[in-house]
Amino acid sequence: MAKVVTFANVKGGSGKSTLCINMAAILIRAGYSVAILDLDQQKCSQDWITGTKDKLLSRVEIIEPAELKAAEDVEVDFLLIDTQGSLTKEMAQFLFQSSLIITPCRVSRDDIVGQGWIEVFLKQSNQNSKKAPILTVLNGVNKRSSILSHVIEQLKEDGVQVAETCISQRVCFAETNVNKVSVIGYNKQATEEIVDLTNEALNLIKSET
Ligand SMILES: Nc1ncnc2c1ncn2[C@@H]1O[C@H](COP(=O)(O)OP(=O)(O)O)[C@@H](O)[C@H]1O
Ligand SMILES: [Mg+2]
Repeated sequence: MAKVVTFANVKGGSGKSTLCINMAAILIRAGYSVAILDLDQQKCSQDWITGTKDKLLSRVEIIEPAELKAAEDVEVDFLLIDTQGSLTKEMAQFLFQSSLIITPCRVSRDDIVGQGWIEVFLKQSNQNSKKAPILTVLNGVNKRSSILSHVIEQLKEDGVQVAETCISQRVCFAETNVNKVSVIGYNKQATEEIVDLTNEALNLIKSET
């Protein structure tokens, strides 16, 4: 039974696909089997994987939405679901099958409002099933900026679960997207950040089960 991790934020450009792909590479390197389901019409993650020359990413399985009934039935250790920047019925169905929801968030009002929508959506839903924890990850940050710590403090005050790991703004993330590889072997600091984030995610999933 696959553990399902969904990347969601109704704001486009927050880093859903970037974190999804790089986390997939880290999980593969750690010895797990991984599949990706790309619910975005633009198929950014799917194209990234199918066009890749990256040894780790080429081991990621692609699942077509049409093939899938229950996300947990996919026979891999982790099913990572990338979503588009809006709340769709299809996406809602998968949010409720998730062990963890990761909401990447830029240090911008629109992104923070966007992640808030995911929280509201889950809270207001009538589904009786257990709701997955939401982990908000600040992405594209400048770690030296005082605005970052202010935003983190504010989010925590509002009851948002903010990841200890923030992902820095780095050109390598955009370059690896264009070159269809992961940051592993491309940029050491970026790799370390994704490893730390993946470990946080794994610990959260473990503590829920
Ligand atoms: N930490 C980062 N540093 C630099 N560029 C980033 C970072 N995260 C994402 N990007 C770039 O920002 C753009 C949007 O990211 P993407 O992952 O496609 O967002 P989403 O899937 O949420 O729409 C892409 O061009 C990507 O390469
Ligand atoms: Mg995307």
